Amino acid sequence: MISNYSDILAFAKEHKVTIGAFNTFNMEMMQAVVSAADKKQVPLIAQTYHAHADYAGVDFMRAIYGVAAEHASVNIALGLDHGKSFAQAETCVKAGYTGVMIDLASEDYDRNVAETKRVVELAHGKGVSVEAELGVIADADRSLEEIAAGYTDPEVARRFAKDTGVDCLAVSVGTAHGTYAHTPKINFDLLKELIDTVCCPIVVHGGSGTPDEDVEEMVRLGIAKLNVGTDFFDAYKKAMFDVMTEKGLGCDVIEVMAAARAAVEKVALHKLDILGRFRV
Ligand code: 13P
Repeated sequence: MISNYSDILAFAKEHKVTIGAFNTFNMEMMQAVVSAADKKQVPLIAQTYHAHADYAGVDFMRAIYGVAAEHASVNIALGLDHGKSFAQAETCVKAGYTGVMIDLASEDYDRNVAETKRVVELAHGKGVSVEAELGVIADADRSLEEIAAGYTDPEVARRFAKDTGVDCLAVSVGTAHGTYAHTPKINFDLLKELIDTVCCPIVVHGGSGTPDEDVEEMVRLGIAKLNVGTDFFDAYKKAMFDVMTEKGLGCDVIEVMAAARAAVEKVALHKLDILGRFRV
């Protein structure tokens, strides 16, 4: 079912689950993550990373999402991930995305607030949810010290959430985007303070490669949404590579794509198991 983030985040709170926000950029990936959510009977946010939105075209992604969501018996949202400008968020709202992230965390506070508020006004007017980011969520090839240097300041996060009216806020607590050079070190005390004191649901990015037990602890503490991308892309590419290596380039293209889809679904099912570990 087509949904924005509101019902989904309410479900997360009521049932003490963390919502999977899984990045996809084509039909097979969309089918895989939505099928996994349907099997687990849990809502899901399918996301398009901003560069993938440019690559695939948001109208194509919206069409694929629409069919997948209508076939599912649980609420599915479609979100823009790391939207880089008001214009990109507006394009997604117009295309029928049900959530948009505006990521101006690298800008100064006042500009981040002003632009985020513009996106909130536009999006909420159309029933679309908004996520923003505060702190720097680094790339995973950085050192642990560099990642920690970007931690979200809880005082600023509390103010930002009130000042902007966002539906959820992505924070920096030790995870990072991509393939980790070092096992991440999560600052659970900071995360707990953010969850307990910021007035909107808290989002963690960089779910790939983060040890399952760390994800489980973040779920237990009450993060509302976990973004995962790289683990899906890696599973997708590896499955295609394996089939083509084994069968050669003469193999049936369906075999290649079906293997990729199945591999993504397997990862999604595993992630959803962890995200739903404390479900009530
Ligand atoms: P990973 O690719 O590290 O899972 O991060 C995804 C993400 O946070 C997208 O916003």
